[in-house]
Amino acid sequence: MDNKNTNVNEAEAAKQYAIMEELKALFDQEYQKTGKRKTYHIETFGCQMNSRDSEKISGILKQIGYEETDTEDADFVLYNTCTVRENANNRVYGRLGYLGKLKKKHPGMLIAICGCMMQEAAAVEKIKTSYRFVDIIFGTHNIFKLAELLKTRLESDRMVIDLWKNTDMIVENLPNIRKYSFKAGVNIMFGCNNFCSYCIVPYVRGRERSRNPQDIIDEIKKLAADGVVEVMLLGQNVNSYGKNLDNPMTFAELLREIEKVDGIERIRFMTSHPKDLSDDLINVMKESKKICKHLHLPIQSGSTRLLQIMNRKYTKESYLELVDKIRAAVPDISLTTDIIVGFPGETEEDFLETIDVVRKVGYDSAFTFLYSKRTGTPAATMDGQVEESVAMERFDRLLKEIQASSAKSAGKDEHTVQKVLVEEVNEQDPTLLTGRLSNNLLVHFPGDKSLIGKIIDVSLDESKGFYYMGSIR
Ligand code: 5AD
Ligand code: SF4
Repeated sequence: MDNKNTNVNEAEAAKQYAIMEELKALFDQEYQKTGKRKTYHIETFGCQMNSRDSEKISGILKQIGYEETDTEDADFVLYNTCTVRENANNRVYGRLGYLGKLKKKHPGMLIAICGCMMQEAAAVEKIKTSYRFVDIIFGTHNIFKLAELLKTRLESDRMVIDLWKNTDMIVENLPNIRKYSFKAGVNIMFGCNNFCSYCIVPYVRGRERSRNPQDIIDEIKKLAADGVVEVMLLGQNVNSYGKNLDNPMTFAELLREIEKVDGIERIRFMTSHPKDLSDDLINVMKESKKICKHLHLPIQSGSTRLLQIMNRKYTKESYLELVDKIRAAVPDISLTTDIIVGFPGETEEDFLETIDVVRKVGYDSAFTFLYSKRTGTPAATMDGQVEESVAMERFDRLLKEIQASSAKSAGKDEHTVQKVLVEEVNEQDPTLLTGRLSNNLLVHFPGDKSLIGKIIDVSLDESKGFYYMGSIR
């Protein structure tokens, strides 16, 4: 992010705060009359970036005087959409049908759709024609304008649509709500420049923009002062952080600065692109007392031939070398990955290369995806689209392989005592607490909810495959 935009962005934040104040006064008046606060509900689809965006939306709405509710029978319903795979879009259309019926029974209900799917012209067209009851459409670049869009909608009777193709604006210091009091996601960059040939993200999230390091550090210091002990640094490709700053800085250097923030005890980050993972970063991970022992390192395919067509810029061999280097530096690290099955032109041989990587790396877990054709990406028009039945059959085989690999690595810490961040009361058994290990696995153990948000020693008494049962030490 260029520093030269700072003043513009401060002015923008001030403008938005003024609109929030104006709406708040209006809503307060209504509250005086009715005795009821207006409610909002957000459905968040997709990744952690979207979850973080939904927190920002919540921050703005609470500032205006809305109260959150967990049902869709609310005064303002927002869908924060994902479009990375086709089925994500279909889920939104399905839910919208239901929402339209609900709106008929709920006078004055407002509906907004935002997020990645709205950055696609075809999806917006479909909503404009088939779901005309939608009130506001906005995208991934202008969330900070929500109050303004709401004001426009309240003053007119038309669908308000505000979509930006791209932006170099990063508006700092807007209101903010966090889901957890003790851990927080922190955006360090937005967008993606990689254009992997299957992926729609660069088209819907725009070009890569890094936040100024000082803004990031200031935010993390504030979080720490607020009681946050764990931060998750978010970016589409965190390893290329800082390249386009006025004073370029690497991700490894940023991590060193974050490590110095008192009160922060755990640092996680997501997502790492293998092509940009530097030796310096491996060193920082090795030396750090705070960076968690978990690395999510998407491979997508084990076939060097396909990796090239995917535009991933690494080979099977270089990926495996990287894994060796990381494991040599941080032996107890947990490795997870993303894999796509059925990319155009994938042959049985290509697929077996993927299986081979899974066996060689021995992932702790993996997210597996059936290739989904995204209009506008280079892969969508490639020859050799794989038949669904073939892809499904490969998908099942891959899943078995991953399960075998996870089963092998799970339980390796059984009978040890580990540091655990206590996150919540167990959903099924209220006498138990649920905590997270540095390597991202969960452990359930008896304890009092006053421990939530604390990092404590827990003995991992029994491995249950994907989680542990334990006891407090
Ligand atoms: N089809 C299937 N999976 C995809 N991903 C991204 N684009 C597609 C697509 N078109 C997967 C990748 C990425 C993860 C977030 O989603 O594995 O790492
Ligand atoms: Fe998509 Fe590739 Fe960017 Fe990840 S790195 S968001 S897979 S284009």
